[in-house]
Amino acid sequence: MLTGKHILLIISGGIAAYKSLDLIRRLRERGATVTPVLTTAAEQFVTPLAVSALAGQKCYRDLFDLTDEAEMGHIQLSRVSDLIVVAPATANLMAQMVHGLAGDLAGTLLLATDTPVMIAPAMNVRMWEHPATQRNLEQLRADGVFVVGPASGDMACGEYGPGRMSEPLEIVAAIEGALSGGPLAGRHIVVTSGPTHEPIDPVRYIANRSSGAQGSAIARALISLGAKVTFVTGPADAPRPHGAHVIEVQTAQEMHDAVISALPADAGIFAAAVADWRMAEANTRKLKKSKDGLPVLAFAENPDILRHVSGLGENRPGLVVGFAAETDDVIANATAKRERKGCDWILANDVSPATGIMGGTENAVVLIDATGAETWPRMSKDEVAQRLAQRIADALGAAQS
Ligand code: CTP
Repeated sequence: MLTGKHILLIISGGIAAYKSLDLIRRLRERGATVTPVLTTAAEQFVTPLAVSALAGQKCYRDLFDLTDEAEMGHIQLSRVSDLIVVAPATANLMAQMVHGLAGDLAGTLLLATDTPVMIAPAMNVRMWEHPATQRNLEQLRADGVFVVGPASGDMACGEYGPGRMSEPLEIVAAIEGALSGGPLAGRHIVVTSGPTHEPIDPVRYIANRSSGAQGSAIARALISLGAKVTFVTGPADAPRPHGAHVIEVQTAQEMHDAVISALPADAGIFAAAVADWRMAEANTRKLKKSKDGLPVLAFAENPDILRHVSGLGENRPGLVVGFAAETDDVIANATAKRERKGCDWILANDVSPATGIMGGTENAVVLIDATGAETWPRMSKDEVAQRLAQRIADALGAAQS
């Protein structure tokens, strides 16, 4: 809930501005007060009348409006809210923020404010991927701005890819997370996810099956409880979790190195399906079919990231959680795996084809710790993630008190 919270909502000029009308409704439903600000360009997409009617508030538009200044000056306007949300945030407004340009009301408010700022970018995929926008994004993150989205999908301009503004409910969840603090506020958690790809030659690789769905869901659940998440992912299909610091890797060795450099952390959650082996010698040239027979591949063992991190001394996260994908004797195998890997908890699941878990939306897990095994009912991967995130929050909270 957002009862008693005050959001200053800056709507900038993009087609996604129409979704901001719904965002206003959703925020008000949860008890928030919304003060809207429209840029000049935004007025091409939504009208001040619609915005103001939905917000039940005056809609601010002009930097040099004497009436507004008499009622509430722009400096005061920039300070009264608990959070400033820019949705949609266009490429132009992001660039304006990076450079501290105060040529209009939105820019001035964003420069004069001392309250936290969240942006929900929305733009054409090429604009989003342009190095200038990516540089600006990095700078805004470094300046402490919360970033929600963008999502991937079909765009109003007819192209496909990242750049769509996140859905209003997703923005609301991020706002709730940012304002509540949450039980994991101030905690840093490293999550591994997805498969790793171990090159055989420049065109072939070895990999495990993994969509990355469970890892992404866990990261999202941890973020919604206020954690700062470093998300180290192999080449997975699942959307990357909004609000995480995402590190993309290909191989187990790269995943290992990224995890080690992300430490220290309060917890490490190892949901990746890491390939156990790589080629002993990388082939820099494509292997060719030969009449002399089949190629013989020599393997080398990859670092076991979970076991390595579990065995770290001072730098070991307070809580280390591994996963065990088993096809038989789930509890016995996973209990032995917990001992072998030296982690605190193992979340085990039965991935034999009949369960339909691999690549599906549901999961049925058993949580194994030093005291025994707890079987969870079959539920969605999001629910597994939420339950696990809450357990982690409880464990870290208990360890502190
Ligand atoms: N894991 C890891 N690094 C590896 C291999 C596995 O961090 N090189 C982690 C996985 O992310 C998971 C856990 O270890 O949390 C279990 O992985 P799994 O491959 O099932 O375990 P293995 O030790 O390989 O056991 P086995 O193949 O015998 O089932």
